[in-house]
Amino acid sequence: GRVVVLYGGDSAEREVSLVSGKAVLEALRRSGVDARGYDPAEGGLVGLENLAPDRVFIALHGRGGEDGTLQGALELLKIPYTGSGVLASALGMDKQRTKQVWQALDLPTPESLLLHAGADWEAVCARLGLPLIVKPVHEGSTLGITIVEDAESLAAAYHEAARFDAQVMAERFIRGEEYTVSLLGDRVLPAIRVEVPSGFYDYEAKYVSNDTRYHLPCGLSPTEEAELGALCRDAFTAIGCRGWGRIDVMRDGQGRFWLLEVNTVPGMTDHSLVPQAAAHAGIDFDALVLAILATAEA
Ligand code: DAL
Ligand code: MG
Repeated sequence: GRVVVLYGGDSAEREVSLVSGKAVLEALRRSGVDARGYDPAEGGLVGLENLAPDRVFIALHGRGGEDGTLQGALELLKIPYTGSGVLASALGMDKQRTKQVWQALDLPTPESLLLHAGADWEAVCARLGLPLIVKPVHEGSTLGITIVEDAESLAAAYHEAARFDAQVMAERFIRGEEYTVSLLGDRVLPAIRVEVPSGFYDYEAKYVSNDTRYHLPCGLSPTEEAELGALCRDAFTAIGCRGWGRIDVMRDGQGRFWLLEVNTVPGMTDHSLVPQAAAHAGIDFDALVLAILATAEA
């Protein structure tokens, strides 16, 4: 049957999604799948329904594609789709509530709180310590994120994040190493350590710069990597995620892991992390795409 790859959309991550979606579409075609691409920002849901897909491959990042709203529409249309369902997608898009679920289950995640324009900036810094990190609650690809080194910079960081989202959070900053763990069906793929010369894995470091280093194997001992993998599997299950996803984690100087967020539709560009982790596990890009597509059967 026909597969429709959804890409583009109108979130702030539109450009990333176009690249992810085109890579997915090309892979499906190489594998002989009857696939076509569709940008819901251009034709809406009615246009999608008219294509009468048997399955949908969601390669949309951010709001309107990764956040449960599209998943709900596809449920109502009775069209199977890749990845997480309505609740997990919506929760995963909300970084603050994701952390609240993890905390309730005693899974380690840095302390955080919601900010508002009239916040007592000094009190926020006293509570979380400095530096801290300010983020839009529902955003991806590090858009709108600032590391705040002193209380005087906090208000400006708040206003920068507020350009992207009505809700803004501050989180304790974990100094250490950054890891990411990809999940594919029942498999936990090899962890990747991300090292950025500038020290901050931002939008530029993710999609533009060639200086970002991806350590694969990640350099942890087998025991530590197994611990990290088990933590990420638990974190994924706690949110109710399905199919595939990626969890971003920090490791502090004492070797403790701290969960940052889950991505329910991770990037699939040639700089992206899930394809690299899969390749290291012997799963090439085309096989990865087929494995993700298979998650739409359930
Ligand atoms: N939000 C981007 C696409 C990622 O997590 O890979
Ligand atoms: Mg993200």
